[in-house]
Amino acid sequence: MRTRFTELFGVEHPIVQGGMQWVGRAELVAAVANAGALGHITALTQPTPEALAGEIARCRELTDRPFGVNLTILPAISPPPYIEYAQVIVESGVPFVETAGNNPTEFLALFKPAGIKVIHKATSVRHALKAQSLGVDAVSIDGFDCAGHPGEDDVPGLVLIPRAAEELECVLIASGGIADARGLVAALSLGADAANMGTRFMCTVESPIHQRVKEHLVSADERMTQHIFRSFRNTARVARNTISERVVEIESAGGTFEDVKDLVSGQRGKLVYETGDTEAGIWGAGLCQALIHDIPTCAELVARMVSEAEEIISGRLVSLLGHDDTLIAARATG
Ligand SMILES: Cc1cc2nc3c(=O)[nH]c(=O)nc-3n(C[C@H](O)[C@H](O)[C@H](O)COP(=O)(O)O)c2cc1C
Repeated sequence: MRTRFTELFGVEHPIVQGGMQWVGRAELVAAVANAGALGHITALTQPTPEALAGEIARCRELTDRPFGVNLTILPAISPPPYIEYAQVIVESGVPFVETAGNNPTEFLALFKPAGIKVIHKATSVRHALKAQSLGVDAVSIDGFDCAGHPGEDDVPGLVLIPRAAEELECVLIASGGIADARGLVAALSLGADAANMGTRFMCTVESPIHQRVKEHLVSADERMTQHIFRSFRNTARVARNTISERVVEIESAGGTFEDVKDLVSGQRGKLVYETGDTEAGIWGAGLCQALIHDIPTCAELVARMVSEAEEIISGRLVSLLGHDDTLIAARATG
């Protein structure tokens, strides 16, 4: 499948693995790259900019294909040294960056002169248009269905993706709720040039998280996620567990961030992935977990998505037009 995405990014398949805190490490990103898709190392999973340089080097040992780095810019009481992380990305010669969370202007000033192609993740058409006007190469539009931060507008992909396609001229990547070939074909039909996936790539052999978390994703359905932080206007879709339910309860009772701070700490979330205790903290999962039924390698997953997408397009969809051989033959013979 050739799209504007595969042409511009020089990646074999129109499939992207978005940044994932604690999950987007070298082994997963290299496996995604080796499968012919575009993976992103998550910069802030690394404790320091120096550690990020080490992780990029480790990924290069595992693949000779190109990959990117996700830089998530979020407001924080004591923010990480974003500019130093960005400088490491530039110095490492990484060809692609996925920015997310906030206006990327000051980082584009570093990335663009270095020839880095930038994908900006946006959760609304207005933010996507703003990113395009700043000169990003692609927008990844991440809607209501997605794991992580879906924004506050609650527009699902079925409307958000074609609305973005109507308005944008730059390369468009559809994100949120995509876990298989049906989602990929749907995204392309809605006007996107590629599909971005988080939850699905979390549930692969090379994903560096505990096996029990992967098995939990396989068994979970579409009702087992939850929005937290709604009342703080910083909504996040996470796996539903006793901690997420407690957070929502505190929010509903008028609680402040201070009241949930310990429950939602990143260190507790990290523990989930390390120990496999899915009740240990808050961790990310999207609605599309309901569509995940196995734990394949990234190579198996990408190859299956591409071949099944081709089957859907040239089989099921073409047959709906009555253009398949059987129908043509049946018509010819009356
Ligand atoms: C465990 C997890 C952690 C994530 N962390 C980040 C992050 O740090 N930065 C970011 O931009 N997106 C993050 N995301 C969002 C993904 O990059 C992607 O946009 C999202 O998962 C797409 O929705 P899907 O899960 O339905 O495929 C995370 C997603 C998951 C599942």
